[in-house]
Amino acid sequence: PRIAVIVVAAGSGTRLGAEAPKALVGLGRHTILRHALHNVFAAPTAQVVIVAPAGREGDALTDAEAAGPRELITVVTGGATRQESVAAGLAALWADIEVVLVHDAARALTPPDVFERVIAAVDATGWGAVPVLPVVDTIKRVDDTAIVEGVDRSELAAAQTPQGFRRDILVDAYRAAHEDYTDDAAVVAASGHRVGTVEGDARAFKITTPADLERARQLVGEPLR
Ligand code: C5P
Repeated sequence: PRIAVIVVAAGSGTRLGAEAPKALVGLGRHTILRHALHNVFAAPTAQVVIVAPAGREGDALTDAEAAGPRELITVVTGGATRQESVAAGLAALWADIEVVLVHDAARALTPPDVFERVIAAVDATGWGAVPVLPVVDTIKRVDDTAIVEGVDRSELAAAQTPQGFRRDILVDAYRAAHEDYTDDAAVVAASGHRVGTVEGDARAFKITTPADLERARQLVGEPLR
């Protein structure tokens, strides 16, 4: 199939406490976004749509051109929520795209074989496909002050990106979505479609806090400062 990857990179990165929008923060010699795109371009993708922070579209394009071929790249401006940013990316897809992967720029170190597993699963089943990892912590349902109950973690999984879908199913699901969902699998599931799972990867963690950024810096083999 003709595949597009939408890389959402328009988040502010408030929890990272950095000056720049998160995707444009440095990670070793490059930005978080450029690291993410390096792995995206290793997949057999026909179009890469980068959803950039407003006012930083030019910087996003510079990173993209350093990571992959210009003729595959589209840059659009993001929205106020992740969901609005994905919708902006969907609106920029070329007519012949059949399968869409949505990927968080913040999961910059996601290895190429995760992309391959997601693409293969969508191809084989026609369902959506989401990389997941088992939950290792013991999980509690809590209220403001106390534990309400334990939760059986064997039936839980942590969802990562890239999440892949048939284009028609994803576009219809976004048109029908009237609530705010935290990932694309939730949008598609709410529209009544099945979403399958593939094996995730610990290196696909989302860079969210300063500690995450430090871990990522160590993984790319750069000195911390
Ligand atoms: O905030 P969080 O880390 O959960 O965001 C996940 C991904 O969604 C990040 O790559 C971020 O840049 C992106 N995002 C976006 N537009 C927003 C909010 C988040 O593209 N308004």
